[in-house]
Amino acid sequence: MCGIVGYVGPKIATPLLLEGLKRLEYRGYDSAGVAIMNGAGVETVKEAGKIAKLELLLDATPVTGTTGIAHTRWATHGPPNQVNAHPHMSQDGSVAVVHNGIIENATVLKQMLQGRGYVFRSDTDTEVLAHLIEECFDGNLEDAVLEALLQVEGTYGIAVISSVDTHKIVAARKGSPLLLGLGENEYFIASDVSAILAHTRQVVYLEDGEMAVLDAGGYRVIDMDAVEITKNVAHIDWDLAQIERGGFSHFMLKEIFEQPQTVEQTMRGRLLDDEGTSKLGGLNLSDEELLSFTNIVITACGTSWHSALIGEHMLEELARIPVEVEYASEFRYRNPVVDEKTLCIVISQSGETADTLAAMREAKRRGARTLGIVNSVGSTIARESDGGIYIHAGPEIGVASTKAFTSQVVALLLFTLKLGRLRGMSQERGQEIIAGMRALPQHIQTILDRAQEIEDIAEEYKRASNFLYLGRGYNFPVALEGALKLKEISYIHAEGYPAAEMKHGPIALIDEMMPVVFIATHDAVFEKITSNVHEVKARKGRVIAVTSRDEDALEGLLDYEFRVPETSDLLMPILASVPLQLLAYYIAVKRGANVDQPRNLAKSVTVE
Ligand code: M6R
Repeated sequence: MCGIVGYVGPKIATPLLLEGLKRLEYRGYDSAGVAIMNGAGVETVKEAGKIAKLELLLDATPVTGTTGIAHTRWATHGPPNQVNAHPHMSQDGSVAVVHNGIIENATVLKQMLQGRGYVFRSDTDTEVLAHLIEECFDGNLEDAVLEALLQVEGTYGIAVISSVDTHKIVAARKGSPLLLGLGENEYFIASDVSAILAHTRQVVYLEDGEMAVLDAGGYRVIDMDAVEITKNVAHIDWDLAQIERGGFSHFMLKEIFEQPQTVEQTMRGRLLDDEGTSKLGGLNLSDEELLSFTNIVITACGTSWHSALIGEHMLEELARIPVEVEYASEFRYRNPVVDEKTLCIVISQSGETADTLAAMREAKRRGARTLGIVNSVGSTIARESDGGIYIHAGPEIGVASTKAFTSQVVALLLFTLKLGRLRGMSQERGQEIIAGMRALPQHIQTILDRAQEIEDIAEEYKRASNFLYLGRGYNFPVALEGALKLKEISYIHAEGYPAAEMKHGPIALIDEMMPVVFIATHDAVFEKITSNVHEVKARKGRVIAVTSRDEDALEGLLDYEFRVPETSDLLMPILASVPLQLLAYYIAVKRGANVDQPRNLAKSVTVE
């Protein structure tokens, strides 16, 4: 989704801004631009399409200055063309604004401004803000931004520069992430830490309702009443290598291959082998408090929602507590039964997904205790939840979530061990699960070592127009996740179903053109899924199966088989999802799709 980067300091801003924009590419965008104080005024250069096109323009006509802001836009209001790209200028050209989020009362403000003679050039809601700041300007940029924002409804992360009140950037946040990067006599503003990581690891996160003023001499943070706020400086542990491709052809492939390490990182220091439980320092809950909850609601979107479904299964089986999984976008608009006896677990890789954040706030409002299972350290969900479990998977750049998924499942299992042992699960059962968890990194590695087998299957099916993914029990969410991976990066229509549901409708689709991926590992429902394989084969469907042992019952039924190591039922989703990630990846690459930046998708969906 849209990205912001800004720089003020002694260096020439353009290369720093372009570098920052490139680091934000993974978030998804369709146009990009910069605005720089060039000594005489604010100059903007913007272009539809890739940053490389913007770079060509800037090479042809360089813009020199040491204060600037830049943006990657993911279209919401108006098509992705040059005019709608950010930064947007005010009528007299004195103010430039970049903006993430949506101004909900843009139409009303636009009419008011048109009434005062402002002429609009773009279809965007952001242009309203640029004119409004000009209208409020009386010599001091932060005063003008403050006054303008008081009239705005909606969400924003903004950065603003002015040719009158020069050499400063004013930034403000409400509902859309922003952070300050603190360098040596230089300061950055960014919507995502990866944009500035090459220059500093010292950051200050802005909260909703806060505004920052940066110049080469320092920074100040104030609230909407202009009262100064003292902020903590956070240190980012990630290093640059983690946000680079490191010899892999795509971030997605790199991240798939990182999973032996990332799963290990999620578990590190948290397993108590002897007691058969886990140690989770960030929960901020005593054992008594954990025992006081009568139900759990897990809310998330996309892949994180799939991991939530696996968590539901684990928690109900081992901790014997009622669990409900809700799409975050639905949760907030109904009237859920949630109160102070409810534990609300919120899962998000980015920690910034707008729907998930809003669902968490709604759960809090209703009195629930909230726990965030989050990857991005310092993200809004991580900061606003009452406690949580960082999954420690490291930065995930590929739009298709892979390593975050397997680590989310591990984190949910860690929590299940903790709660399960408190609620009567035996020590032996806990120890058995931990032994299985400890073997996961090695098992994942053996799957990755055979990636070529999956690439061969991909070659066979790369021209398919549809795919079905079927699984049961713990592997039903794996089917959903396998289908999501394939559709988002290869654009092949794919559906995941609980295998037995197939005969209630999707079976009508099966013919010799339909590849059906079964997750048919040896578990409690293996015999049941065998019948479903027969049903597909009887209708000439093509069967690709992820299995875990040589099964007589599947003899002669499979067109392709990929064997994963045996493990317990509840750990199988972690292993079974890896070949499906690879299958989606190889099919997409063979179809020539842009795997890391699939069309229309954003890494972090920060608008509702
Ligand atoms: O950052 P989050 O985990 O909150 O993101 C949720 C979804 O937007 C995300 O999982 C999305 O579905 C991915 N593109 C899946 O690969």
